[in-house]
Amino acid sequence: MLSGKRIILGVTGGIAAYKAAFLLREFQKAGAEVRVTMTPSATRFVGTETFASLSRHDVAVEVFPESSSADAWTRHIEWGEWADLFVIAPCTANTLGKIVHGFSDNMLTSTVLAARCPILICPTMDGGMYQAPATQQNLQKVAEFGYHILEPEEGYLASGLEGKGRLPGPQTILKKAETLIVSKKKEDKLLSGKSVLVTAGPTREHIDPVRFISNPSTGKMGFAMAEAAQRLGADVTLIHGPVQLVPPSGVETIEIETAEQLYEKVREYATADVVIMSAAVSDFAPTDYHHQKVKKDNASSEIKLKSTPDILSWLGGQRRNGQVLIGFAMETENLVENATRKLNEKNIDWIVANSLSENDSGFGVDTNTVLLLGNGEKQEISGSKREVARILLDKIFAH
Ligand code: C5P
Repeated sequence: MLSGKRIILGVTGGIAAYKAAFLLREFQKAGAEVRVTMTPSATRFVGTETFASLSRHDVAVEVFPESSSADAWTRHIEWGEWADLFVIAPCTANTLGKIVHGFSDNMLTSTVLAARCPILICPTMDGGMYQAPATQQNLQKVAEFGYHILEPEEGYLASGLEGKGRLPGPQTILKKAETLIVSKKKEDKLLSGKSVLVTAGPTREHIDPVRFISNPSTGKMGFAMAEAAQRLGADVTLIHGPVQLVPPSGVETIEIETAEQLYEKVREYATADVVIMSAAVSDFAPTDYHHQKVKKDNASSEIKLKSTPDILSWLGGQRRNGQVLIGFAMETENLVENATRKLNEKNIDWIVANSLSENDSGFGVDTNTVLLLGNGEKQEISGSKREVARILLDKIFAH
């Protein structure tokens, strides 16, 4: 899978730096061409000559190299354009922190900013440093940026302590690298020329001007789906409820508030080639709307509710040939059974099932673990929401 692919291997200053030499060999055995960039501290652990001989290419450490040729200082741009994948292994807490804040003080950090390819970060450090709040927050941030993370393994660490922080073996890193390269290869073409409608975020069903029924959806998963579809070449329209997110550039966005407004807008765009209903549509709305704020003293203890239109079922009922309908299901129990029932009853092609019982998935968080059901298959996908979005579209459209 890596045959003919171009990988930048970034090596930072931790004791696991020596293991990067074995990783480089694995990449080469799999057919990849590898260039190495090291941070200045990494060169204290392993000499640049080791990586230069193995990669048969100069190793870049500083943005300003020794030579004074006119284009030498723009190497980070050239490397960033050149690569199909950038793997940082090992990645120290220090370099991770610099990446989060957009530093470009050496060749490695500058190339991260210049890169146009997927970036895989393999955080490697002592267990205490890995668990430190700053490191954990930085990992969350890079996941939000859309960079990929391969978690360290538990075990005996160079400090003599036991804990989580070891660099995974070269085969594990190689496997992860292969999945990321596959996504990039298909990125340009998979949805070219297709119109994709994505819905995201919550709806609000007002009781009076200041009170409403809603849910904690932040819209992150739907926005990630819109961004991923756009990167795959689709012409994307994103209809969303009230959220605190910046829409992906190049995507047409429409704001709505209620389920009824969402229904109206979806009907306008219902001929899209692909519809992804990731909005958390309220299933109920108050029967009566009070035009003035209801006073405490004359509030009734009951609110009468009516059902909102099931937009996805409506889409399933009038779908045209070749149209792909994708729904989301958030369940607190019997995930597979309930999601399968929705897949069939709503007459859609795929359903992405979320379990609210998982800590790292569902409302608000940046990561997600989902089950993709459809086509008679059941596949679990987890990672940052951006990563999950890309893999979902890969799995659905790459046959
Ligand atoms: O039936 P349930 O609400 O659990 O199904 C979830 C899926 O249906 C989601 O894709 C959601 O966007 C969609 N939905 C809808 N209209 C509703 C409720 C949910 O389109 N009124």
